Amino acid sequence: MPTGPSAVRHLPQELRLGNLRVGTPVVLAPMAGITDAAYRRLCREHGAGLYVCEMITSRGIVERDAMTMSMLVFDETEDVRSVQLYGTDPVYIGKAAEILCAEHGVDHIDLNFGCPVPKVTRKGGGGALPWKRTLLGDILEAAVRATEPYGVPVTMKTRKGIDDEHLTYLDAGRIAQDSGCAAIALHGRTVAQAYSGQADWDAIGELVAHVDIPVLGNGDIWEASDALRMVEQTGAAGVVVGRGCLGRPWLFRDLAAAFAGESVATLPNLGEVAAMMRRHAELLVHHMGEVRGCKEFRKHVSWYLKGFPVGGDLRRDLALVESLGRLDGLLGLLDPEAPFPVSELGTPRGRQGSPRRVVLPEGWLEDRDGTDPVAAEDLASGSGG
Ligand SMILES: Cc1cc2nc3c(=O)[nH]c(=O)nc-3n(C[C@H](O)[C@H](O)[C@H](O)COP(=O)(O)O)c2cc1C
Repeated sequence: MPTGPSAVRHLPQELRLGNLRVGTPVVLAPMAGITDAAYRRLCREHGAGLYVCEMITSRGIVERDAMTMSMLVFDETEDVRSVQLYGTDPVYIGKAAEILCAEHGVDHIDLNFGCPVPKVTRKGGGGALPWKRTLLGDILEAAVRATEPYGVPVTMKTRKGIDDEHLTYLDAGRIAQDSGCAAIALHGRTVAQAYSGQADWDAIGELVAHVDIPVLGNGDIWEASDALRMVEQTGAAGVVVGRGCLGRPWLFRDLAAAFAGESVATLPNLGEVAAMMRRHAELLVHHMGEVRGCKEFRKHVSWYLKGFPVGGDLRRDLALVESLGRLDGLLGLLDPEAPFPVSELGTPRGRQGSPRRVVLPEGWLEDRDGTDPVAAEDLASGSGG
């Protein structure tokens, strides 16, 4: 691996997605249930980059489903609005993309073709869809056509394929390029792998060599140094970071510094982490009100405290917090001087799971060029990936 200033010189300094210029080639991965307006703001307060919202279903937008619309929320400081759309039907996707541009001032739309959740792949959506090359092209073209008048770039995010015998990423890259997509992001795993094993960065390099549009590399970036290594190894135009920033929004500071040629490893002590937790909860409450905001905050507690010396009772109480007042009281019980647990650096966080059989619609693998969505689109979906 090349090191030192000569390697740093070759790093991308910004990311260009059509007309959209992102000051640092770093993207917060869309994560359902995580990358809401509060979390995007928290991450943005530390770094620079593109912060994508949770996956939103196109049918939910078109039918103005209340649950879907409640997810389509932007922070008042969010100057670049980036939305991930899910769908299997070009008509819904096109209409939803138009609504996002015309009524919600969205600046970037990403399309989800990587979700491994059985509820989604069973209907031919998410990571199952790229197998149908014609349908994939129809969906991408519908989105690009709808957003073109607004100058809003469309990107797609996908996996290597359904499993090792049914790889789709190289075809998907060509189809994305031919459809007018501004970039393609590749998570270097198959749907069957879910989050298990190691992301295949060689596949990212192969895709870079295969297409002319920017490729964003995704999978297993736990530290800023991993991001540089991925870009150096693959030639990717930028990185997409998901689980590595769970409970670590400051990773975006390290990433921005790394792409600017500096080496920064932020190691907050427990007092600083507690302040970050308070800020996160406060932003959730700002967007969702105290009851729902505190409830949403609970899932982040174990990620923030990972590796710190905090007793089980206190962890449990924090994970049941129901008000900001109670949170303040509990955070006050933490030892503010406890140093960051450096043994956690570079280690996986969040979902890992194990390989699984991919649930597909009947006969799905028999035809690679289908055009019909097999089932009605889901109205709302609480899970992504
Ligand atoms: C909790 C969770 C929710 C996710 N939701 C989505 C999603 O809605 N859309 C999507 O494209 N990927 C989703 N992903 C996948 C991530 O965007 C990313 O591709 C994956 O975690 C690999 O990157 P990482 O190793 O940096 O985490 C999700 C991942 C997690 C852990």
